[in-house]
Amino acid sequence: MKLSIMHNLPQHPQLNVFEGFAGYGGASFGLIRAGINHNVVGFSEVDADAVELYRYNFPNVHNFGDITQIDAESPDFPDFDLFTGGFPCQPFSTVGKRQGQDDERGRGTLFGDIVRVCEAKHPSYVLLENVKGLKTGKMKATFEVILDELHRIGYDTRYAVLNSKDYGIPQTRERLWIFGFLGQLPEDFELEPPHQPLYGYLADFLDRHPAADLYKTQAQIDRIHEIHHNDTFDVDEPLCYDIYNRKIRTDRLSMTITPPEHNVIRIIEPMIDGKERFRKLSLDEHFRLMGFRLDDEEREILFPPTQNYTRLGRRAGNGWDVNLVGILLNHIFWQLL
Ligand SMILES: C[S@@+](CC[C@H](N)C(=O)[O-])C[C@H]1O[C@@H](n2cnc3c(N)ncnc32)[C@H](O)[C@@H]1O
Repeated sequence: MKLSIMHNLPQHPQLNVFEGFAGYGGASFGLIRAGINHNVVGFSEVDADAVELYRYNFPNVHNFGDITQIDAESPDFPDFDLFTGGFPCQPFSTVGKRQGQDDERGRGTLFGDIVRVCEAKHPSYVLLENVKGLKTGKMKATFEVILDELHRIGYDTRYAVLNSKDYGIPQTRERLWIFGFLGQLPEDFELEPPHQPLYGYLADFLDRHPAADLYKTQAQIDRIHEIHHNDTFDVDEPLCYDIYNRKIRTDRLSMTITPPEHNVIRIIEPMIDGKERFRKLSLDEHFRLMGFRLDDEEREILFPPTQNYTRLGRRAGNGWDVNLVGILLNHIFWQLL
């Protein structure tokens, strides 16, 4: 399967990158995909499994640990041109409080630490990611503070909600992307890359020979039918079953990949000898649906043997679609470099 066709970026000086909230290193993998001449000067991550996975793939990059503890003014903290981060975000703009109070500006939150680090280091570019719900409802005021704060410290911003299924990967995964540029962005700068056709449907992203232990027993399948009030699972090609909404997805896409403990995604395969086939996603399938190349020719991400299905699956559920990140970064820097 050929993943993504990108512009060859013109020769440009090396981009130094700091990967905040690194997870498995979605930005690092995306930068490689984008063909950007770069050097990751450090990352920040607190989850021991994420750190282990990141370092298993990028052994030479230093973890600066908890972002709240980083002394951004220290001579030991390196300079960089691009800060990236998909940050956990709680609402922090409280209506009715006096303007300028700390909790109205996001101070004391993880976004506040992004601002603190970027204010000290002035990277030319900032790329942030969050759930699309940050833009609406009770999070809207928080989102406005985020944009205001980035403007206050000198960044022109653009944002866009991008869906993995519009960039080649058969997964419905909508995420909000915020790009900050120190100075003024060109007026015609567009954050949203042009849509691309799917590389394949869900069935094309599944293992050719799934492991036997992924399959549910007939008794477990019968129990699902009983609780969900549905008929025999009889399909012509593998499709996604949404446990939460009790529905087969007929659009041939995967629902949003979530950590395995949420326990919401199943695959229904065509019956064999009149027997239903119903199973969990394998680890490779989780990561393929997050944009990684994992086939006979290439294993783009390596899994530490110390980590099991749940621990690695959790990273996929929280990670960045590296195919989309590659396309996005290429699209951004094609316009700027
Ligand atoms: C949405 S995930 C980021 C996913 C990442 N971009 C990737 O591609 O895998 C957010 C990450 O922030 C990390 N995190 C939470 N609090 C943090 C802190 N105080 N400092 C650094 N990282 C933190 C979490 O452990 C989690 O891995």
